[in-house]
Amino acid sequence: MDHFELNDGVLCAENVPLPVIAAEVGTPVYVYSRATLTRHARVFRDALGILRDAKIAFAVKSNPNLAVLKVLAAEGYGADVVSGGEMERALAAGMAPDGIVFSGVGKTAAEMRRGIEAGIGQFNLESEEEGLELAEIAASMGKVASAALRVNPDVDAGTHGKISTGKAENKFGVPFDRAAAIYGRLATTPGLNMRGLTLHIGSQLSKLEPLEAAFNKVGGLMEEIRAAGHSVTHMDLGGGVGVPYKAGEVFPQPAEYAAMVARVTGNWGVTLMFEPGRVITGNTGVLVTEVIRVKEGASNPWVVVDAAMNDLARPALYDAWHDFAAVEPTGETFTANIVGPICESSDTFAMARVIDKVGRGDLAVFRTAGAYGATMANTYNSRPLVPEVMVDGDKWAVVADRIDPATILAAERVPDFLK
Ligand code: LLP
Repeated sequence: MDHFELNDGVLCAENVPLPVIAAEVGTPVYVYSRATLTRHARVFRDALGILRDAKIAFAVKSNPNLAVLKVLAAEGYGADVVSGGEMERALAAGMAPDGIVFSGVGKTAAEMRRGIEAGIGQFNLESEEEGLELAEIAASMGKVASAALRVNPDVDAGTHGKISTGKAENKFGVPFDRAAAIYGRLATTPGLNMRGLTLHIGSQLSKLEPLEAAFNKVGGLMEEIRAAGHSVTHMDLGGGVGVPYKAGEVFPQPAEYAAMVARVTGNWGVTLMFEPGRVITGNTGVLVTEVIRVKEGASNPWVVVDAAMNDLARPALYDAWHDFAAVEPTGETFTANIVGPICESSDTFAMARVIDKVGRGDLAVFRTAGAYGATMANTYNSRPLVPEVMVDGDKWAVVADRIDPATILAAERVPDFLK
């Protein structure tokens, strides 16, 4: 459920008609609905309420905008961060340091040091090598770093290959059959407080079964580690719950997810941690775009919009589907291809799709663009960096400026040897 609805024939974000924002800010522009964000955050958090002790670390990578993080911080969310940059954002948004989890396969020594200094709650270690390095850094600072070991459970998440992370051939975590031994060694290393295991098998999961299989596997590993005399007090179950991108698709609901987790983990006796991203932010945003022109095609017309793969990369990267809708639909439809202005064929949002009839100058949206949208934008073809707006009832504000090509050009230098 979201708060992007037609009101008097015009698509609105909560109470604000999208043409009002487009007229002031220009297009393309991401528009987020605060009410939708808050609702999703609460539905997920409340669903997990059936668990004994659950902590949520929002996957900042899905939408790192400071205003978005502020809303989630106010809802009691911590953060799952994968870079120094994300960590600074989470701290700037007021998230409690001990609610921050630092994930990622390539944390640098500087990032680890800064994380320890800031007092973040948990490092999710991706290898024994990384654990030893973290231990050394913490010990040199006279500190102890809390950590969990990321395990690769070798389970097929059944999602797109490029966002699947829990198969043996993926770079993430330590191999399942070596995990207990590695945990044992790290648990006795000074400077580290090994407190648990973590896993994340992939993103945009449409079924709960792969997650359940993976949780059962790491549950067994937890028992094995405990039997060897080590303590396990925290189990971080990652993110991955998918959302519908096409009208009518059915995805697991947070309550079903929580019920499955309760069933699997009922006797674990740990603090459970979660790292949801898309399920919180996906439906909270749309990308508003203007039709530049409609070009005649060999079979279908080409709807050329002013958003492109640099603004919303998912279709080009993962063949992802985003529903497209006119901001002022007439009720008429046609079959068309939707493309951006970038000079490569991957800049295609849809082929041969039945869509609202649109023409030059019309506004339209790509839906479900709140997760992995603006955060993956770039300036390819020397296009501006896309701005972001947040709506709250009748109010709205720009929460990230459009960064124009002149500003980017001003950061470039011609070296003396070329002058
Ligand atoms: N935790 C870890 C360790 C992760 O790697 C991820 C996502 C998450 C949590 C959050 O997953 P979520 O709940 O959002 O599925 N750019 C891709 C998605 C990449 C996801 C990477 N990791 C896309 O646009 O579909």
